[in-house]
Amino acid sequence: MITKEIQAQDSAHFIHPFTDHGDLATRGARVITKADGIYIWDSEGEKLFDAMSGLWCVNVGYGRKALAEAAYQQMMTLPFYNSFFQTTNVPAVKLATKLASLAPTVDGRSFEHVFYSSSGSESNDSNVRMVRRYWDLLGQPQRKVIISRHNAYHGSTMAGASLGGMSGMHAQGDLPIPNITHIEQPYFFENGKPGETADEFGLRAAGWLEAKILELGADKVAAFIAEPIQGAGGVIIPPVTYWPEIQRIVDKYGLLLISDEVICAFGRLGHWFAYEKFGYKPDLVTFAKAVTSGYIPLGGVMVGDRVAKVLIEKGGEFNHGYTYSGHPVACAVALANLEIMETEQLPQRVRGDIGAYFAKRYAELNDHPLVGMAETCGFVAGLVLVKNKHSKERFSEEDAVGMVCRRHCFTNGLIMRAVGDRMIIAPPLTLTHAEIDELMRLIRLALDLSLQELKAKGLL
Ligand SMILES: Cc1ncc(COP(=O)(O)O)c(C=O)c1O
Repeated sequence: MITKEIQAQDSAHFIHPFTDHGDLATRGARVITKADGIYIWDSEGEKLFDAMSGLWCVNVGYGRKALAEAAYQQMMTLPFYNSFFQTTNVPAVKLATKLASLAPTVDGRSFEHVFYSSSGSESNDSNVRMVRRYWDLLGQPQRKVIISRHNAYHGSTMAGASLGGMSGMHAQGDLPIPNITHIEQPYFFENGKPGETADEFGLRAAGWLEAKILELGADKVAAFIAEPIQGAGGVIIPPVTYWPEIQRIVDKYGLLLISDEVICAFGRLGHWFAYEKFGYKPDLVTFAKAVTSGYIPLGGVMVGDRVAKVLIEKGGEFNHGYTYSGHPVACAVALANLEIMETEQLPQRVRGDIGAYFAKRYAELNDHPLVGMAETCGFVAGLVLVKNKHSKERFSEEDAVGMVCRRHCFTNGLIMRAVGDRMIIAPPLTLTHAEIDELMRLIRLALDLSLQELKAKGLL
């Protein structure tokens, strides 16, 4: 393959997501051509350790024949049929049944129903529709406002981007849409006060939800939406006190709770669903990505009994859905993917000794002069790059320190993502001890080279 030719066609015809095309045209896109296990290769033959699992999704790793075979068999049997007009298909039914069995019941609240989409963004649009319909059916149509958090990521459709709290996204296209508002995120490193413990901060951060509910009037608030751990925002791991206090507040005011687990479900935090890890009780759970390990698009919402009962018993026709809701091929691939996760006990691995080894090795990065705080939760990890470890002084935005580090990762065969001054990873759940060692060697190398470059530029 001639890289330059593909790059030229790419520039001429392909508008990429979240990309500055003027900039891209000057350097040419990296052309990814194949993948196996935890590695991807580009058109120049460079091999890269994919510590981001594609985009937080390839939880079982690349090159799984069982997933290709499941797709092939299903395409030859029934490649597509819709699930509108009182029809259904076997893989969609089997997957919904399987997901319902995997979603744990907390305090008698269970998930027996699934609504399908093809992505996380669509699923969150569906959440907005379901939440509003729920309150309308209960005779409380004034309950419209959904509270989210700054720096959250809930997708890129109009509703998804509005629910998200990324100011750069809101700045384009007149977002957020009405009746969506945001509170501050539980980022201890940034928002903790001097002398405050992480646990104290967790309670204070959850208190911002209560303050917002009181400001708006509880009878106006429909739901609170949050990621268990903010992924795209930079792997922001809340203190352990945060979620229980959020649950207390949500219960007190009767709001619906939406857990956006597009990143955190399917073993990423050591459980099938992340709410189990943190012990809270959502009414709706968004999923996508790793339900198929990214091999084919599929998303959806686990609809808890509280909402399902109202929609089904009182709702009549729900005027909402997608051509590909319950796509038979996507559902067949998801079933094969979940079977791999079960057979290889991937959630248990992350919860058990391999997760502990990953956490221990990652925590060692805290001794690096550039690292202000390095932390993990299951198989997501983040670290913040700082100018001064002791005073926790941060780099300015213009220093683009994350980009410096990311470049050294790339040139040394590692995919690690930069979010401002945070470096983050979400590796496949199949990592072995030796692969974790290799990952840590590559991260440390990138940090050392970044340190040298920042010193040479006089930024340290
Ligand atoms: C928490 C969360 N919600 C929603 C989305 C949007 O998913 P998609 O890109 O499949 O629309 C993402 C994507 O990264 C996500 O991380």
